[in-house]
Amino acid sequence: MQTIALNTKSRPSTVLCGAGAAKQLDTILDGKDVFVVTDENVYGLYKDFIAENFGGAPVCVLPAGERHKNRRSLFTILDKMLQARLRRNSTLVAFGGGVVGDMGGLAASLYMRGIHAVQVPTTLLAQVDSSVGGKTAIDHRGVKNVIGTFYQPEYVVCDPLFLRTLPQRELKCGLGEIIKTGALDAKILDKLERNAERFFDFSFLEEITADCVRFKAGVVEKDECERSGLRKCLNMGHTTGHALELFYKRRSHGEYVLIGMLLESYIAEKFDICAHDYAEELRALIGKVLKRVPRFENIAEAAGLALYDKKNQGENEVSLILPAKRGEFAELRLTDEDYIGSVEEIAGGLA
Ligand code: NAD
Ligand code: GLY
Repeated sequence: MQTIALNTKSRPSTVLCGAGAAKQLDTILDGKDVFVVTDENVYGLYKDFIAENFGGAPVCVLPAGERHKNRRSLFTILDKMLQARLRRNSTLVAFGGGVVGDMGGLAASLYMRGIHAVQVPTTLLAQVDSSVGGKTAIDHRGVKNVIGTFYQPEYVVCDPLFLRTLPQRELKCGLGEIIKTGALDAKILDKLERNAERFFDFSFLEEITADCVRFKAGVVEKDECERSGLRKCLNMGHTTGHALELFYKRRSHGEYVLIGMLLESYIAEKFDICAHDYAEELRALIGKVLKRVPRFENIAEAAGLALYDKKNQGENEVSLILPAKRGEFAELRLTDEDYIGSVEEIAGGLA
């Protein structure tokens, strides 16, 4: 198990990563007034684990899935926190995937203006990305993550133990964020390329999770609230991914991120941000996880939702974080017309 420190101006956060991390929950939560948030799938699988490891704490079980990442679920959590008479020194444990983590983190940041938060991510995507760095959110009126806060959890406990029950499709979603990190960090990219046949091997996933967490911690330490522009790099593939996710709603967040990265790799080439050979290298990795690109009806309309992306600064402008060279990224701002036209053309060519 590795201990990774994430020191931001707001609050220090400690990430425990690797086999045995969950055993530390005993110590982390010792003497604390705990409240657990989870979803129905995770609860079904880990009811005994919850009872044994969270000291009989009250548990708020939410319906699972992105479509429940909304104000209704947020207020369910807050109501139950109030019923449980949580105080300022209580600790909310978000035990689940990124949806539970984002909403649990938001509730912890809002209740009494902020109580302690611990993230125990149970999906690969949440372990390599969403549980770390303190972004919390719900979706609202068709806009993704539009209501949220930056709120660092005191601890993040990433144990590969939980990945054993994860369907392969969800592992692929986590691999999407791992490949994204590879496109930002040359050493991680080298490791991914050397181990491309081991993507579903748990010992490899344990090792690469710690690498991704360390990379993300470094970025968040430098730009916690996405002010300097550095943290934006973590959104590679997400502008297009989020737009398609909101429009089609059929697949998981991670799958749309993979599709977004694929489409944006062609945009990077088209606008001379990235050389063909390097774009092909990234596409080869994406292809190890995403075997087939789905056919999208009305893709121009879907791509239009990118206008709501939080990175955009001007009206009718879409901001994209694109791969440039190994370990380097660049931001490209396109008019909505150029962006939508490019997505339409590229997706049409892939279908
Ligand atoms: P998710 O939370 O919906 O989990 C995916 C599915 O796996 C759900 O059905 C869940 O019930 C199930 N599940 C969870 N753990 C399991 C386990 N151990 N075994 C079996 N099933 C399990 O989705 P996700 O992919 O974990 O997270 C996606 C969310 O994360 C999106 O809402 C996205 O916006 C958010 N996100 C946030 C950040 C951030 O920085 N805060 C970063 C990336 C993504
Ligand atoms: N996943 C994007 C971020 O944490 O900033």
